[in-house]
Amino acid sequence: MIDNNPPRLTIVVFGGTGDLMKRKLAPAFASLLKKKIISKDSTIIGIARGDFNDESYKNLFAESAKSQEDRENIKQLKIKFFRGDATNQKSLANLSDFIFSTEPKEGRNRIFYLSTSFKLFPSIIEQLKTQALYEQKNNYFTRIVFEKPFGVNLASSDELERSIHETFSEEQIFRIDHYLAKETVKNISILKYTNPIFNYLLRKEVVESINIIVDEDLGVGNRIAYYNETGAIKDMIQSHLLQVLSLLLMENPSELKAEKIHDEKVKVLKSIEILPAENNLLGQYKSYIKESSLLGTKESKTETFASIVLECNNERWKGVKIVLRTGKMLKSKFGQIIINFRQIPDKLKENSLDIKNNKLIIDIYPKQDIKLILNTRKPATQNEIEEISLDFCHESFFGPNTTDEYATLLADIIAGDKTLFTRSDELRESWKVIEKIERIKDKIPFLIYPDGTDPEDMEKNINSVK
Ligand code: BG6
Repeated sequence: MIDNNPPRLTIVVFGGTGDLMKRKLAPAFASLLKKKIISKDSTIIGIARGDFNDESYKNLFAESAKSQEDRENIKQLKIKFFRGDATNQKSLANLSDFIFSTEPKEGRNRIFYLSTSFKLFPSIIEQLKTQALYEQKNNYFTRIVFEKPFGVNLASSDELERSIHETFSEEQIFRIDHYLAKETVKNISILKYTNPIFNYLLRKEVVESINIIVDEDLGVGNRIAYYNETGAIKDMIQSHLLQVLSLLLMENPSELKAEKIHDEKVKVLKSIEILPAENNLLGQYKSYIKESSLLGTKESKTETFASIVLECNNERWKGVKIVLRTGKMLKSKFGQIIINFRQIPDKLKENSLDIKNNKLIIDIYPKQDIKLILNTRKPATQNEIEEISLDFCHESFFGPNTTDEYATLLADIIAGDKTLFTRSDELRESWKVIEKIERIKDKIPFLIYPDGTDPEDMEKNINSVK
């Protein structure tokens, strides 16, 4: 019999002492326990090369707690450490014995979470296969979760898919993109689906351009080795920004169900065309070269900033300019979607009026607000126009802005809900978009920008040079 309320699970995390575990997963487990999504009899097994025992590993978890309550919750969990090196097959050889020793004889629901470099995915999967850890017995599920990036290009991603599918079925596979669990991003399809006005407004006849912005104020830090091979385009655009874009631009699915949503997102990704190189901009923050010299490189053309301009060649969106912008070491950490509506046609325009474009602004972070920017008459003037904002403030209506993406994702993995995960054809299509960018990358203007730059200034400068 499966005890599903709340379920007892075995969660095995490869990369168990990594940054993601400390910053995101450990607090998420505490939150799942608090919300009774997992039972306190669940076991969390961290696998890494480090020198830990169960006790010291549990302390590492407790240190990541955001509150005393979380610390207490973490203490209740069964946390185990397994020393293993995924680059060395022998060191994982006893993994199944270890896992079985923590589970009842009849088995348990099991989640393998691969928070390692994608280069280690095949060897980890091989062990899960040879040790028969992938099997689903007695109605217990076994699910496998992959952190991004999923490869470095279409070919490596396809190769990973092939090797994973030799062992796991698509139904068992969960590809993480934590942006899909951000409150605003989850809200996009609801806003469009439940408010018919958006269906009329979101189209080429009404929208002039769209900006999707994900700026960061921090640099690459200790992830330099990973980042130097990846850059902003593969680190952020391939996953997070293309996911936001496809949700925003997709047709409303016939139902808000995972498969139907994925079908519509894939159609958007297939329709993307990148504008010629001179419309785009890449950059690198000034101190990056000093950081990358730690790798022994004197020169690096890795982009830490990208502003990519594209169009979706479909009936609804053809001709609308879409800008995806992301970068590190910028003025502030800031995420926003801006939908710029068209001006009224010239022949109708009253020239003496200073009419601005209407805008719909959807904040991703730090806030989760929505604003509609309109023109209005300024009182006591001769029809002077003032821009005003109709605001929905998430915090005053619903309470604090949320940041528990990983708890949401883990809860969905446990529930088997795939809406917030990338389907394999979406992944392929997003890599194809990246290939289109790569083809013109050498011709895209490249700037070195001072740390802390305001990206608006950067874009203005490049436009004045054009
Ligand atoms: C990760 C990227 O996927 O997302 C990081 O690898 C980036 O480079 C991070 O910093 C941004 O996530 P968030 O949730 O802090 O905006």
